[in-house]
Amino acid sequence: NQDSDILVSGGSFSRDGFTTVTPKILSRVGVNLHNERNHPLCIIKEQIRDFFYKRFLNKRGNPLFSIYDNLSPVVTVWQNFDSVLVPKDHVSRRRGDNYYLNREYMLRAHTSAHQHELVKVGLDAFLVAGDVYRRDEIDATHFPVFHQMEGVQLFSDFELFEKCQDSSLKLFTDDQERVPEKQEHHTLEAVKLVEFELKHTLEDLARFLFGEGIETRWVVTDFPFTYPSFELEIKFQGEWLEVLGCGIMEQELLHSAGAGHKIGYAFGLGLERLAMVLFHIPDIRLFWSTDSRFRSQFEVPDPRKVKFKPFSKFPPVFYDISFWCPESGFISNDFYDLVRSVAGEMAEKVELIDEFCNPKTGKTSHCYRITYRSMDRTLTKEEVGTIHTELIEQCSTSLGVEVRN
Ligand code: PHE
Repeated sequence: NQDSDILVSGGSFSRDGFTTVTPKILSRVGVNLHNERNHPLCIIKEQIRDFFYKRFLNKRGNPLFSIYDNLSPVVTVWQNFDSVLVPKDHVSRRRGDNYYLNREYMLRAHTSAHQHELVKVGLDAFLVAGDVYRRDEIDATHFPVFHQMEGVQLFSDFELFEKCQDSSLKLFTDDQERVPEKQEHHTLEAVKLVEFELKHTLEDLARFLFGEGIETRWVVTDFPFTYPSFELEIKFQGEWLEVLGCGIMEQELLHSAGAGHKIGYAFGLGLERLAMVLFHIPDIRLFWSTDSRFRSQFEVPDPRKVKFKPFSKFPPVFYDISFWCPESGFISNDFYDLVRSVAGEMAEKVELIDEFCNPKTGKTSHCYRITYRSMDRTLTKEEVGTIHTELIEQCSTSLGVEVRN
C-alpha cells in the first residue's frame, strides 16, 4: 500500500516525499546471508575476522578487534552521511541512488554508517559486517543489496610510538596546511606509521585470502571521511579489480566521536567481490539462490579451497520495452527498481539499447532489452510474457511513461 507506514526491522516509519524503498527491497532486510553458516559470504567474513583475530592481540593474548555483524541496516540519514562528513550537497546522497524510508531514515549505503557510534562508545579496534543497499543498474556484478566489512583501528600516541625510543614524537602539530601526504593537524611521522600499518595489513589480508602469488596495487582516491584515501586493486583474470577503499580517518570525525586525542585508519571491503574472485562465482544473484546445487558446494570441511562448478545455465528469454519518458524527467534507477519489484531475481540484465529525441515534440524515447533468466530452472516464454506484461502496465501507472510497444 502506497500510504501505509513502512514496517521494517521492528520499527514503523511513515512515508514522505523522499521515500524510495520498495517492498521487494524491504523483504531482503533481516535475511543476513553473511550470518548463515556455510554461505560463501559468511565463509569470507569468517576468514577476514580470523585474520584480524590472529594478527592483533592485546596484552593478555586475546583478539584486539571485536566484530559487529548484527547491527540493523536501518539507519538515520545522519548516521549514513553526516556522521562521516559527507557534505549536504554531495552526489552520493541522491534519491536516485539510495533507499530512503523517509527524509530521516534510510537503508545504509555503506557500513561506514556505524563508524561514529562505535568510536563513540569507546572502541579502538572493530570490524562491522553487514548488508548494504544501493539503487543501481542490473547486470552480473550489481545487485541492490550487497555486503561490506568495515574495519577501524585507533592509536594513542603511546601505542603508535611504543617501539620507538624517541620521546619527542607526537601525533599532532599546530595548524599546518593540508598537503597530499596528510591532514593539517597530523605529524608526518604519525601518518606514515599508520599508513604503513594499514597498507601492510590489507596487503597481507589479500595474500591470506588469495595466496602468495596475488598481484596488488594502490590507487590514490577520495572519500569524505578519510584523508589521504586509497583503493586496493587486485589482478584478477588479467584485469585490475577494485576490492576495497581505505584511508587515514578524518580527525574531525574522531573529534566529534570523542576520540580526538587518537589517530586512526578505516577500510571498507566488498564481500561479494572478494567471494566471486575467491570461489569463481560468475553471477552475483547466485548469493541469493537457495538451490542446493549452489549451497551444497560450500558445505565441505575446508570451504577455502572450493572452486564453484557452475551448473548448466538455463536458457534466457528476451523482451524489449520502449516508452516515451515523461516531460517532468525520468530516472533510470526508478525503472530498474520497478524491474526488480516485478521480476525479482529473474531479471538478469537490463540494457538501454536505444534512446532518441523526437525533434518535433521534444520527447525522449528509451528502449530497454531485458534478459530474463532463472538460476534454478528453465523459464517458459509464456510465464515471462505474463511478467513482462505486468511490467508494461506498471510502467505506465507508476512511472508515468507512455509505453510504445
Ligand atoms: N564506505 C566506502 C565505500 O562504501 C569504503 C570506505 C570505508 C572507504 C572506510 C574508506 C574508509 O565505498
